[in-house]
Amino acid sequence: MKIRSFDDYQQAYQQSVTDPEGFWAGVADTFLWRKRWDNVLEWNFTEPSIKWFLGGKLNITENCLDRHLATKADQPALIFEPNDPTEPSQTLTYKVLHERVCQFSNVLKRNGVQKGDRVCIYMPMVPELAIAILACARIGAVHSVVFGGFSAHSIADRINDAQCKLVVTSDGAFRGNKEIALKATVDDALLTCPSVEKVIVLTRTRTPTSMIKGRDAWWEDELKLVTTDCPAEEMDAEDMLFVLYTSGSTGKPKGVVHTCGGYMVYTSYTFETVFQYQPGEEGRVPIFFCTADIGWITGHSYIVYGPLASGATTVLFEGIPTYPDAGRFWDVIDKHQVNILYTAPTAIRSLMSFGLDFVKNKDLSSLQILGSVGEPINEEAWHWYHENIGKGRCPIVDTWWQTETAGILISPIAGLTPLKPTYATLPLPGVQPILVDEAGKEIEGNGVSGNLCLKFPWPGILRTTYGDHERCRQTYFATYPGLYFTGDGCLRDEDGYYRITGRVDDVLNVSGHRIGTAEVENAINMHLGVIESAVVGYPHDIKGQGIYAYIITDHPHQNPELMKKDILATVARMIGPIAKPDKIQFVSGLPKTRSGKIMRRILRKIAEGETSNLGDITTLLDPAVVEEIKAGVV
Ligand code: PRX
Repeated sequence: MKIRSFDDYQQAYQQSVTDPEGFWAGVADTFLWRKRWDNVLEWNFTEPSIKWFLGGKLNITENCLDRHLATKADQPALIFEPNDPTEPSQTLTYKVLHERVCQFSNVLKRNGVQKGDRVCIYMPMVPELAIAILACARIGAVHSVVFGGFSAHSIADRINDAQCKLVVTSDGAFRGNKEIALKATVDDALLTCPSVEKVIVLTRTRTPTSMIKGRDAWWEDELKLVTTDCPAEEMDAEDMLFVLYTSGSTGKPKGVVHTCGGYMVYTSYTFETVFQYQPGEEGRVPIFFCTADIGWITGHSYIVYGPLASGATTVLFEGIPTYPDAGRFWDVIDKHQVNILYTAPTAIRSLMSFGLDFVKNKDLSSLQILGSVGEPINEEAWHWYHENIGKGRCPIVDTWWQTETAGILISPIAGLTPLKPTYATLPLPGVQPILVDEAGKEIEGNGVSGNLCLKFPWPGILRTTYGDHERCRQTYFATYPGLYFTGDGCLRDEDGYYRITGRVDDVLNVSGHRIGTAEVENAINMHLGVIESAVVGYPHDIKGQGIYAYIITDHPHQNPELMKKDILATVARMIGPIAKPDKIQFVSGLPKTRSGKIMRRILRKIAEGETSNLGDITTLLDPAVVEEIKAGVV
């Protein structure tokens, strides 16, 4: 049943709790299965073992492409807006996208990729990125997309963890007025990646590119060697679809694993429900523009799979919000008559800071629905977005979810359920949130805060972390036995609306990018002369959170500013520029308990500028160090 009113929502929610299997079977029945499932769900959160649509056979690309050909062959599937506004945009119809995916599937096969093999994709935001992803899915290969901002070292870690056999990349990427040499970074990574046999390189920037004989091949040359006919591999519902690395509280990112059936059902269902995506007058299909990068889960689920499985038209934007100026998003909306915009609070705050001149004179009348994702949206940004972009007439869906959840869990349903600025509001059908205290005891009633958990699986929940199931159990299912723990703190107000208050673990959210403090510390500690470091987040006007690093070195450097720059270079090399600390303070010691544990609470408060009320510091090994740190705040 499609939800078209608040009553429908309540009914659907009720059914999804009393009869989850019946509810999800009803949703799953709207997809194309080669063989229908035998069992809707088998699960326990102890091992954990979670299986949806057991025995079902399908290929997600037949759902994203083939099944639309009968009625939508000439409808735009993907609209590509290049970084440079003077370069023509491209429209790929479902027919064309299908053809290109099949063709590239054959390229992968020709290069030895088989069902189950892992393929690393490190590319700019161009149509070929979506094509490479779908081509993997078509032949049953597991894709691992690595965000283009990660360093060679990070790529190598991810490739080695998943033992990828092939890499798809491009010569370079355009980002604003910069040109970034992607293939050169891949080449550096591959010095330590023995599992990689082949590299396919797309031409995008014509950046000078080294091509190694026997290993590297140009995308364009490969296309000439294959046909555009490629039947889809039959996949089990629980076969792996992709792995996507994300940060946690330890130093090593983990590969979140999603599987074919549940991921497809969940992303498409939430896309259609939350954004109320449906053809309008005369069958006109709304234009959906998600500004995320496909290197993150938002791009996977709401640029590629969700919209395409729903037969939508999705915009893929290569550039950045501030190039050639801070009006670029509004130009894209105007040019392509975008109806639904899905973006991140950090982008809104950044554009806000440029003033209204860049919004003036832009035709935003096509917009009907606005979305927000990735971090808490502050009240000021919410109102600015609502008034200046939505002109007070577009609902804002503040969608809360995670890499691990595949799709949106808590969010308003556009136009149907109530909005409350800074609140993700209500759980979607099938989602059963619960708040618990530190001891894991359920906090009932309204007007309460606690740690956010889910007590029942939904089809998009992660199945494992690649190559290390125990880590999955430890991270998500062991803190509170019987529950999936999100790592987020949450408030449930008097009306029962949920508001996410931020991470309660050592994970930072910097401009919507998820970064572990331990990862950044490891990178800093690699630097010559660094003895120890502690990284915390602090409130940042644009980024949401900034990174503050306290660092002990073996001897005071003659030129601390130079040393800071060198440390930033090390972090950029170990992780990528996105993880560079915003502030560095050199200290002679860190506040530690007698057992040697760093008291991060104190460091967070100092970084937040809250030095008057640090709480009890008498348990510290050396309370004097706190005074020194307070005096040296940057
Ligand atoms: O802390 C929450 C925050 O982003 C985290 C998940 O990050 P990631 O896996 O990178 O996925 C981001 C895109 C879904 C969450 O644990 N977060 C995400 N959406 C919201 C949010 N915080 C507040 N409000 C949101 N709407």
